[in-house]
Amino acid sequence: MRRKVTKAIFPVAGLGTRFLPATKSVPKEIMTLVDRPLIQYAIDEARAAGIKEFIFVTSRGKGALEDYFDHNPVLESDLRKKGKTELLEILRGTDMESGAIAYIRQHKALGLGHAVWCARRLIANEPFAVILPDDVIAAEKPCLQQMVEAFEDIGENMVAAMEVPREQSSAYGMLDIGEENGPLVRVKGMVEKPAAEDSPSNLAVIGRYILTPKVLQNLNKLKSGSGGEIQLTDAIAEDIRQEREVYGYRFRGRRFDCGNKSGFLRATVAFGLARDDLRDDLMAYLRELQHVDRAAE
Ligand code: UTP
Repeated sequence: MRRKVTKAIFPVAGLGTRFLPATKSVPKEIMTLVDRPLIQYAIDEARAAGIKEFIFVTSRGKGALEDYFDHNPVLESDLRKKGKTELLEILRGTDMESGAIAYIRQHKALGLGHAVWCARRLIANEPFAVILPDDVIAAEKPCLQQMVEAFEDIGENMVAAMEVPREQSSAYGMLDIGEENGPLVRVKGMVEKPAAEDSPSNLAVIGRYILTPKVLQNLNKLKSGSGGEIQLTDAIAEDIRQEREVYGYRFRGRRFDCGNKSGFLRATVAFGLARDDLRDDLMAYLRELQHVDRAAE
């Protein structure tokens, strides 16, 4: 089996209901942390990990996402004429090689597992990454790069894993775990969104995966699971039942769940504070808020 991972699926066909009314017309993945859309963070992470083919699973109303990756010659020539070279550089950083992106449509939002399955013909018979752009991870070495390096050694299914308070189990796929070896944890089973008391551990799966093509075959046979959706977790758990290996990877980095409002706001503050051009002003404002808060007590 080839161990190099060069393809990544970006499932972006969800309805994004937690951000209504914005998501009536703006795809969630285009919403910005400071001045970059969520999808740009995901693409940058994939590129750093050596991904060459970017497969977007989209749906109705996601046109803005496709436009985002097109060149904008009018804007570029305007910036050039005005000598705005810094802005031009920023735009160039978002350029994608021609033919590097493929779009596949998920006709009905039947779940993450179904979205991944929609891309099966573009994956064929090689390992592939799945990146959920809602999960933004700030890390010295990008999370997917950490995982790709580990995958080159072990060549087995791998999911990004993170400890969460048990009472939050019902928001995640949770891992039943065996022996640990550095950042790698052998997975004995996976449960999608269990109640806290039924969760096999406090280790949750978050939005980065490296999967072997067998998982796509498992998806062929899957019926809808938790929440009436076709779950990717169930297809990975099926691999464990068939005695193939699955590992959790405890990545180094800080993950923000930008799929909900509070996580998105936290990420906005954290990424704002990480920027040289914004830090002082934002910090002064946060201190001001703290004073107002104290005065009110
Ligand atoms: P979420 O569970 O966050 O769902 O999907 P959502 O529709 O995006 O948002 P809410 O819950 O309504 O607010 C996790 C990831 O799986 C993709 C989403 O686009 C997101 O990247 N997804 C989900 C699909 O591509 N298709 C689906 O049918 C479901």
